[in-house]
Amino acid sequence: MAVTRTFSIIKPDATKRNLTGAVTKKLEDAGLRVVASKRIRMSQEQAEGFYAVHKERPFFGELVEFMMSEPVVVQVLEGEDAVAKNREVMGATNPAEAAEGTIRKEFALSIGENSVHGSDSEENAAIEIAYFFSNDEIVG
Ligand code: CMP
Repeated sequence: MAVTRTFSIIKPDATKRNLTGAVTKKLEDAGLRVVASKRIRMSQEQAEGFYAVHKERPFFGELVEFMMSEPVVVQVLEGEDAVAKNREVMGATNPAEAAEGTIRKEFALSIGENSVHGSDSEENAAIEIAYFFSNDEIVG
């Protein structure tokens, strides 16, 4: 299995509850390495652009407001089959359906306030990483 990269966001519900370290520990324990990380407050433009694929969904406005409501931590994660590994440790989007031991099972509050985002494919990982990071900010 090849070493690849994925993109992660520790969302406002988690940063607000001081869970940045706890979430990151889960990622590291799963075998992922944080090769870039920064705490930012998303602008409306950034949040709308990042979630543009969801702009026709009824929850789009709520999603954008939520992502701007508190700081987030954007990260690049590296590891073997990183996209799949990250999705496994995150758990299902809806915490009510998330498996035991996953980040969302332990920390998420609801389907909207679900503590983390992770890329759903290597193609999207590359796009999402480039949305927030320049190459010199990523140190593997
Ligand atoms: P994420 O992986 O960041 O990608 C899109 C996000 O939309 C998703 O996680 C959820 O936080 C959010 N989302 C999905 N479905 C709903 C919903 N029904 N209501 C509110 N937010 C949602």
